[in-house]
Amino acid sequence: MNRKKVICSCYGITKGDIADAVEQGAARFREVKKQTKAGKACGHCKKKVKKLIKKLAVSQSH
Ligand code: FES
Repeated sequence: MNRKKVICSCYGITKGDIADAVEQGAARFREVKKQTKAGKACGHCKKKVKKLIKKLAVSQSH
C-alpha cells in the first residue's frame, strides 16, 4: 500500500492517515471522518474512504 497516496484532496489526507485511524479503532466512515477530517468538506472522497476502510478492515482481521 502506498501510504503517501492522497485520498482526500481537501485536507490532504493520505491512505496512511486513514490506515492509522482504522488501526486506532475507527471502523466506520463516520469515525474516520472524525479522526482524520477526510470527507468533511466536499465529500467527493467519501466513496474512496469507505472502500479503503473496508479493505483495511479485511486485511486486519487476517
Ligand atoms: S476530497 Fe475529501 S472532503 Fe473533499
